[in-house]
Amino acid sequence: MNITPFIERRRRVLAQIGSNGLAVLFAAPEQRRSNDTEFPFRQDSYFHYLTGFGEPQAALLLDGASGKSILFCRDKDELGEIWNGFRYGPQAAAEAFAFDEAYSFGEWEQHLGKAILNKKSLYALWGVYPEYDSKVMAQWHKVQQSAGRRVQTNTYAPECLADLAAVLDSMRLVKDEAEIALLKKAGEISAMAHIRAMKQTRPGMSELQIEAEILHEFMRQGARFPSYNSIVAGGKNACCLHYVENKDVLRDGDLLLIDAGAEYGLYAGDITRTFPVNGRFGAVQKDVYEIVLAANEAAIAAVKPQADWGEIHMLALKILVQGLLDLKLLKGSVDGNIESQAYQRFYMHGLGHWVGLDVHDVGKRWQDGKPLLLQPGMTTTIEPGLYIAAADDIPEAFHNIGIRIEDNVLVTEEGSENYTSLVPKSVAEIEALMRA
Ligand code: GLY
Ligand code: MN
Ligand code: MN
Repeated sequence: MNITPFIERRRRVLAQIGSNGLAVLFAAPEQRRSNDTEFPFRQDSYFHYLTGFGEPQAALLLDGASGKSILFCRDKDELGEIWNGFRYGPQAAAEAFAFDEAYSFGEWEQHLGKAILNKKSLYALWGVYPEYDSKVMAQWHKVQQSAGRRVQTNTYAPECLADLAAVLDSMRLVKDEAEIALLKKAGEISAMAHIRAMKQTRPGMSELQIEAEILHEFMRQGARFPSYNSIVAGGKNACCLHYVENKDVLRDGDLLLIDAGAEYGLYAGDITRTFPVNGRFGAVQKDVYEIVLAANEAAIAAVKPQADWGEIHMLALKILVQGLLDLKLLKGSVDGNIESQAYQRFYMHGLGHWVGLDVHDVGKRWQDGKPLLLQPGMTTTIEPGLYIAAADDIPEAFHNIGIRIEDNVLVTEEGSENYTSLVPKSVAEIEALMRA
């Protein structure tokens, strides 16, 4: 692993918290699944962003006064490693990840207690792991009680308990080169899995079997885990936005919506494609599909530096609403339906979200009451959809058609790059792939 980006990110945080600041953050805790077995360990995204260190029971202190990065981690343990695998131990971790100092995990509270003396601000990811919050707070309180006017005269406790997420979220919003490379790889693997799913799908197979094809391709390509639970939704199941049961049999004549992405190097892919189970779109399915595709393509084309996300959202929404009017599923005007939000019966989610270490990545869309303008290095999904549940006032031909088309787009200096475009999405391309 190239550790330079992690060193650089720590340097940037230290510069922002200043010589009067101290920051502390923690590795993710392990999660028990049942009795004495755990869920596969997944490092905390913020902790990974600043360390690249993949073990649980670890903490990082960034001391603005000394400019040092100090790691606390598990000690080497011969027997523990025979049972549960390699661990670095403080010394090797400091060397491998370029920390200035490293100590046993059990020592972090004591070090924090000393390092907060005479700092103005203590930055932490408050609320993320409440069990650590209370320990950090206890150290702060101890200093605050003994400082200044009381026991010692020449010390003080931080008067500002600051949110480290405010610092890290704006950094994470604009991806660096190392992150972009991993996101593209995650996108590429996700795309290959969708292609595999399209090729394998036949009427009579189960959603679960298609999920297995997707996971198979992820793992074959080096992505151990999906970045979220895969949605494999045939027919009416596509009208449930987060359907993850994946338990039904796929029926001839239905559409299949797959929303699945690989996690690679902890970065998320997030692709949705919708295609016919039997390889041929029906006429009505095609009509609805073309509307969603037009919204997807127009929105992607509008992504560029200085673009206003609110306007891109509106551009896609107008295409979807005009399409619903053309299909006579809505009545009136485009503006009237947007004003009344009548379209929400068929389109009830946003156009997209940032994608990065978290599939729904951190970072604001708005700043100081104004929409944040897109900048090179930002990565967003574009995922318009239409979902037409069965109802008495809807012609039967439309019943249970649920379509979403989702790509992952990088804002570049010149405009944008859709780095999940490898998976076909035009009707002709999909039908050709499924025939092959
Ligand atoms: N896969 C979740 C989403 O598309 O937002
Ligand atoms: Mn998404
Ligand atoms: Mn998705």
